[in-house]
Amino acid sequence: MDYSRLFSSNMPLPVEMPVGLMADTKYVFSVTYADQGVFPTEGLIDALSVAIRRDGQTLSQYPPPQGHLGMRELIAGNLAGQRGAPDIDPESIFLSSGAGGAIGAILDVFVDPGDVVLVEEFSYLGTMKMLLERGADVRHVPTDDEGMDTDALDRIIGEVIAEGKRPKMIYTISVYQNPMGVTLSLNRRRHMLEISGKYGVPIFENESYADFRIDGDPIPPAMLGMGDPNRVMYVSAYTKLLGCGLRLGYGVVPEPVMETLRKIRFGGAPSHLASMAVHQYMTDNREEYVTDVVSSLRASRDSMLGALSKYFPSNTSWSTPDGGMMLWVELPEGADTLAALPAAVEADVKYNPGPVFRAERDGHNFLRLTYSHNSPEEIGEGIEILADVFQREGLFG
Ligand SMILES: Cc1ncc(COP(=O)(O)O)c(C=O)c1O
Repeated sequence: MDYSRLFSSNMPLPVEMPVGLMADTKYVFSVTYADQGVFPTEGLIDALSVAIRRDGQTLSQYPPPQGHLGMRELIAGNLAGQRGAPDIDPESIFLSSGAGGAIGAILDVFVDPGDVVLVEEFSYLGTMKMLLERGADVRHVPTDDEGMDTDALDRIIGEVIAEGKRPKMIYTISVYQNPMGVTLSLNRRRHMLEISGKYGVPIFENESYADFRIDGDPIPPAMLGMGDPNRVMYVSAYTKLLGCGLRLGYGVVPEPVMETLRKIRFGGAPSHLASMAVHQYMTDNREEYVTDVVSSLRASRDSMLGALSKYFPSNTSWSTPDGGMMLWVELPEGADTLAALPAAVEADVKYNPGPVFRAERDGHNFLRLTYSHNSPEEIGEGIEILADVFQREGLFG
């Protein structure tokens, strides 16, 4: 059978990812897995059995189109309590297969080939891949310690409009940004909302890491709750907190977007079983569990920072995140983190090379290191090995 002749001519454009990222390695600094050291096996078993005893019958049917209602009510409550966004109607929330599922669904509604989407200077590789597959014209906006530079954003949108194009959205990972680790400041949030109103361009706010504040200042409220909610679409997930395997995320969107999503996502709700388990577990244990995860992340982050200071030379630098699950590292000009990945994988370590976070696939002398998977001891070992590989491959100059 010649399958290639039968394939759709309308498939997404293939976007290549480095093969090494799929390898099995002992030291995984390339994925923000949920923290296995505090994974609540017993708690989840209890939560699921309570939920199945009570609501198991509902599993005989398909879930509601936007997903488990109790879960959506819980999310609305958390957005009010934790993220300063009161009055979110559960009807404006849809559950998805991870945050990635909600991102893909929203991009399907908005992005045609050639459409301009504004993102941070480096941005989450999964969204980058989805944008590039859809043929989007991705424009990176300079980003510093306060997050996306909104003066630059204003200027770039003006330039895009002068080219005769209309930007479709401002996509921002506004808390503990992936991969740079920075949080969008309150003043810049206000400015971004103002820019959104001025040009009629919605903000697409991704808060996948908002639960993971380790230390430092409290994070500012979500833009979703800071003014006209009509300007903001929002995604987050329980994958980083409770388990990537649960595949439970969500989106919050204004009614015209939800109306369209209801049509194109008919039957698209995620596993009701996962929703039942997460709903029960989070209702009973949220505060205590988040505290455990954060203290585990603190130990892992400190171990990685300590190991980098010990093994990486003084011509390299890295972020000191006060939350989230990753460090952003800069090597000397000319270093090629993409080319060095196979040697690192050979030595049992994987990380994310800078270019996977850029539309132009440049930024070779940057890399992202995550610290949510290995134990603090393993993190120390892995960073020592990585430093050896980079030394050998000439990345330290
Ligand atoms: C910023 C961001 N958004 C979305 C995702 C995808 O998350 P999920 O596993 O919930 O689909 C990730 C995963 O790394 C992420 O870092």
